[in-house]
Amino acid sequence: MGPVSVRPDCQRQGIGKSLIEAGLRRLRESGAKGCVLVGEPRYYERLGFRNLPELILEGVPPENFLALPFGENTGRGVVVFHEGFGATE
Ligand SMILES: CC(C)(COP(=O)(O)OP(=O)(O)OC[C@H]1O[C@@H](n2cnc3c(N)ncnc32)[C@H](O)[C@@H]1OP(=O)(O)O)[C@@H](O)C(=O)NCCC(=O)NCCS
Repeated sequence: MGPVSVRPDCQRQGIGKSLIEAGLRRLRESGAKGCVLVGEPRYYERLGFRNLPELILEGVPPENFLALPFGENTGRGVVVFHEGFGATE
């Protein structure tokens, strides 16, 4: 998931949390086993995300690579983002 952004004058009203929860619902409905993102741990830990040492995103500090498994199985290995995350236009 990501990046998530809320206009500064609309922040701190729960919009960010609602966007993330809506995204997680869609992922669950699509059959995904979990969600990963690169972000600020202090914000995302409140939503259940945490760093899982068995999941690695190369080039990103572990403390900023966060995961939320949807079941017991957390998975393990090197994570690669969909090529859409690298789009520049
Ligand atoms: C992060 C962001 C999406 C949150 O949106 P929001 O609509 O304000 O979020 P919510 O209303 O659901 O939550 C607000 C809470 O998160 C906290 N928060 C916001 N950004 C934070 C951060 N970087 N670190 C820790 N806490 C943060 C606020 O202090 C607030 O806490 P409170 O409820 O105790 O007052 C928004 O601040 C933003 O667009 N930031 C710039 C872009 C960014 O950093 N995106 C995240 C990386 S993908």
